[in-house]
Amino acid sequence: MYSTILTNLENGILTVTINRPDKLNALNKSVFDDLNNVMDDVIASSEIKSVIITGAGTKSFVAGADIAEFSSFGKAEAMELSKRGQDVFFKIENCSKPVIAAVNGFALGGGCELAMACHFRICSENAKFGQPEVNLGLIPGYGGTQRLTQLIGKGKSMELQMTAQIIDANEALKLNLVNHITTSENLLPKAIEILTTINSKAPIAISKIIECINIAVVSDSAYTNGKSGYEKEVESFGACFETADMIEGTTAFLEKRKAIFTGK
Ligand code: COA
Repeated sequence: MYSTILTNLENGILTVTINRPDKLNALNKSVFDDLNNVMDDVIASSEIKSVIITGAGTKSFVAGADIAEFSSFGKAEAMELSKRGQDVFFKIENCSKPVIAAVNGFALGGGCELAMACHFRICSENAKFGQPEVNLGLIPGYGGTQRLTQLIGKGKSMELQMTAQIIDANEALKLNLVNHITTSENLLPKAIEILTTINSKAPIAISKIIECINIAVVSDSAYTNGKSGYEKEVESFGACFETADMIEGTTAFLEKRKAIFTGK
């Protein structure tokens, strides 16, 4: 079904593994097509509750855009590629179901951008992050100038992108680029543990949290529909009161029992 990614669905958690280990999982056109299609499947599926994105092997999450594809490109093709990359990553960022990156090695260039498009990131001890595009006479093209700035602040984002410095897992944790560091062996189990907790909560409330938080960090008015995050929060808070899960959650609390959510 997919040529460059592997998928595995267990207990409502879909693990998507970018599978070009001989090219350190670099993002070529096929990977973008597969990521786009798998996100459509995630959105449409009633079985998939949340997603982990990771890379095949232990050396690399994704070592960037596939530089080999750039050789024949002019300005128009480059702009088209950038737009395509941004669109696929917007689809991940705006997915109503949680998507976390399990970064197992290099997350460079487009790999760092992919990780940053996910709702949050955890990584293994050998993870390395960076936007080294200036080494190639380029800049990030899949949202990196924006998302790295949102996540770590302007000064650090400027420095990392201007120097092409690669940072290790500890520095990424210090900068809030990742939420947790673990061993390579424990990386997927840790991601599954976190998503199992999230999957036990009310799915509509989770999707509203994603929408509201995304508005807090995205300034693009086309994206926010002209609404402020506070307006969106009022509307979303109200919408939760129309869900069966809100009635179940509040009733279960008062009855001193664990809530059983149905996603309705
Ligand atoms: N695009 C295309 N191919 C890539 C790639 C990329 N972004 N990153 C790695 N590869 C390929 C290499 O060309 C090599 O292929 P080959 O065996 O057919 O020659 C293979 O993956 C292994 O990479 P290699 O460079 O030999 O591994 P390494 O351990 O010596 O170095 C990196 C690892 C990540 C430091 C190095 O591959 C690198 O700098 N990659 C590019 C990172 C980058 O600039 N990303 C931003 C792109 S816009």
